Amino acid sequence: VQEDAESVGEWVAHYVQERIRRFKPTAERPFVLGLPTGSSPLPTYRKLVELHKSGQLSFEHVVTVNMDEYVGLSPTHEQSYHAFMWTNLFEHIDIRPENVHILDGMAEDLQAECDKYEAMIEDLGGIELFLGGIGPDGHIAFNEPGSSLCSRTRVKTLAYDTIVANSRFFGGDIAKVPTMALTVGVGTVMDAREVLVIITGVSKALALHKCIEEGVSHMWTVSCLQQHPRACIACDEDATLEC
Ligand code: GLP
Repeated sequence: VQEDAESVGEWVAHYVQERIRRFKPTAERPFVLGLPTGSSPLPTYRKLVELHKSGQLSFEHVVTVNMDEYVGLSPTHEQSYHAFMWTNLFEHIDIRPENVHILDGMAEDLQAECDKYEAMIEDLGGIELFLGGIGPDGHIAFNEPGSSLCSRTRVKTLAYDTIVANSRFFGGDIAKVPTMALTVGVGTVMDAREVLVIITGVSKALALHKCIEEGVSHMWTVSCLQQHPRACIACDEDATLEC
């Protein structure tokens, strides 16, 4: 628990830096890092860029795998998760473009795209560290309430609450928010060797409570982490407020 969202970002960025340093990645054995979007990881991304710019962190041998993408938004759409990742992180670091993996929400055959993504993760030897965020309804990636805890990468219809929550990025117009997304499954997240979830702000307090104080439930999919052998939550004080 850190004081505020900025300190959480600093803590997480240093943690990522340390994990990459200890792993000693090479071209043959890259560090596979899973990444989220949303406002929660922004302080972390800012700090990672800072660490890179000051010569303390290289992404040369880091391969990234993003959690999700909206269906129907082209990579150039400013609210696509492709655009988000390039604008907020990839453009500012030394990652090789071929080492960046993000689901294609414009694929003709969406399920084939998801299956290919799962196969790609397996070919990489799995994800070393999956960073995540959550929605106010406790979803991880886009695994909305009711998702199977064994789910794999697939097409998911967004919950109305998520559409409302994410409409702030679409000028507050819920009609502009895509209604479907491609997302890694809960099972995909659970397969990562380590999971670190960023939870900040009072709007996430109920979800954090459900995640750690109550039982594992597919209605609060982030609660799956209780069964992960190596999971950690980095949160700010606001997220721990009693609700
Ligand atoms: C979206 C993403 C999630 C993210 C969530 C929270 O729903 N699919 O991966 O965790 O937003 O976003 P924010 O951090 O902006 O609250």
